This record gives sequence, structure tokens and C-alpha cells, in this order.
Amino acid sequence: MLSRLISSTRAIPEGYAVPQHIAVVMDGNGRWARKRFLPRVAGHKRGLDTVRNVVKLCIDRGVQHLTLFAFSSENWRRPQDEVSFLMQLFMQALREEVKKLHKNNIRLRVIGDLSRFDAKLVETIAQAEALTAGNTALTLSIAANYGGRWDILNAMNRMLASDAGKRDNFTEEDLAPHLCLADAPEPDLFIRTGGEQRVSNFLLWQLAYTEFYFTDCLWPDFDEAAFDLAIDSYRKRERRFGRTSEQLTGASPQDKQD
Ligand code: IPE
Ligand code: IPE
Ligand code: MG
Repeated sequence: MLSRLISSTRAIPEGYAVPQHIAVVMDGNGRWARKRFLPRVAGHKRGLDTVRNVVKLCIDRGVQHLTLFAFSSENWRRPQDEVSFLMQLFMQALREEVKKLHKNNIRLRVIGDLSRFDAKLVETIAQAEALTAGNTALTLSIAANYGGRWDILNAMNRMLASDAGKRDNFTEEDLAPHLCLADAPEPDLFIRTGGEQRVSNFLLWQLAYTEFYFTDCLWPDFDEAAFDLAIDSYRKRERRFGRTSEQLTGASPQDKQD
């Protein structure tokens, strides 16, 4: 299993018509609100409705992993009021939704540097993760105070503290198990709403061979039709992982490995 996961920049996933793992930069909440002459935070509230809906859609379509960028390590630079609102919304959502997630067999986890969050929030996160740890319908990972560079550095420090750290000449296989999401296949599909075409320090390592999909649709407007457009776009792509197109047509599953 592990070798399959960490070699996912090489092996063609079997039957990739439906992405197994979708990673989303949920962008455009502020602009959605501004268009309606509402405060930015009203957009974040509506964005939470979209999260609920997208979780449902993923289960319905057979997606196994959904990773959502909720708060980046750079978002602390926002006005204090907005940061506080986002923290409260996160806390409230965790409290209110966790039972529902559990009932729907969803495993929840939070990835990111939790050391900057207050103790109460960290405890609520730990309880939610423990309660839902055995669930299998969908793994929902929320990236909070997450940064891709932090993830890689954190993994490196953990690797150095492990047995592998006693050697030199480290390999990808030494580092990869220490990254966030190491137990999930790398994202098949990256979606960014809100019109910007950038990664904004999301999963830098894990997106090495992910298919990218950008849409102008603002996150609160990202409904079932918009979700299906992203899936349709993904299904039309040919994932080659360095090979030629000719190698893929008519090749045996063996040829699609290394
Ligand atoms: C994304 O929406 C949500 C977070 C970053 C928390 P934004 O708040 O970035 O919305 P825009 O980009 O200003 O429209
Ligand atoms: C990225 O959105 C982070 C999240 C969606 C949580 P931003 O709106 O903060 O991204 P930039 O700074 O405009 O790239
Ligand atoms: Mg934004």
C-alpha cells in the first residue's frame, strides 16, 4: 500500500474516471459578499453551506478523499476582525457538524500547524478526529494554518528525528511518510474557485502530478453543476506521468507501472 502511495507520481491510477482525491482552494467568499453589499464575513458563512454540499457530492460520486483549504499560514495577515470571525466559524462548525459527519461515516481531520490555535480549538479538533477516526465513506481533511512549505519542512524535521535521519542521502520514500496526507493517495484533481490561477502555498509536494482546474465561479456559488463541470474536465484528461500517449493506449496494467 505505502509503496503505491508514495509512487503516485509514476503509477497511472486504476480507473481514474472519478478522482479518488480532490483538493480544493475555496476562494471568492469575500467577493461574493462584496457583490451583494454584504460584509466579507457573510461570504464565509455562505461558503460553509458550499462545504456541506460538496462533501455530500463527493460521497455521492464515490470520491474517497476531499481536502479543503480553509485557512492558510498567510491568512493571519488579514484584518484581526476577519481572522477572529474565521476562527469562531471554524470552532462553531466543528461543534455543530461533527455528529452529522460521524453519522454519515465521514472521517474528519485537520492538517496544518495547530500550535497557533487556542487550546480549546485544538482540543475540539482532537475530539472530532478521535470520534471519526474509524469512518470510511470519505476522509475530509481541513487545512487550517496550513502552508505547503511548512508541511515539507515539518516532514523534514520529523524524518531527521526518525531512524531514517541517522543516515544520509535521503530519498523521497524517506520523507513522504512524514508529510500531511501521507496515508492518502496524492490528489488527482485540484480545484480553485474564485478566478485566481495560483496555488497559494497549498499542497506543494502532493500536487506534483495533480490535474488542475480553475474556475471563475466564487466558492459560495460552487453548486452541483459547477462541481460536475470540474469532474467532467478531469475525466477528459490523459494522465501520462511522463510517458507518451502511445504507451498508454493498449498497454497492460504492468506497463502503466514503473
Ligand atoms: C476564501 O475566500 C476564504 C479564505 C481565504 C478563508 P476569500 O476570503 O479569500 O475571498 P476573496 O478572495 O476575498 O473573494
Ligand atoms: C487561499 O486563498 C487560501 C484559502 C482559500 C484558505 P487566499 O484568498 O488567501 O489566496 P491569495 O492570498 O489571494 O493567493
Ligand atoms: Mg481570496
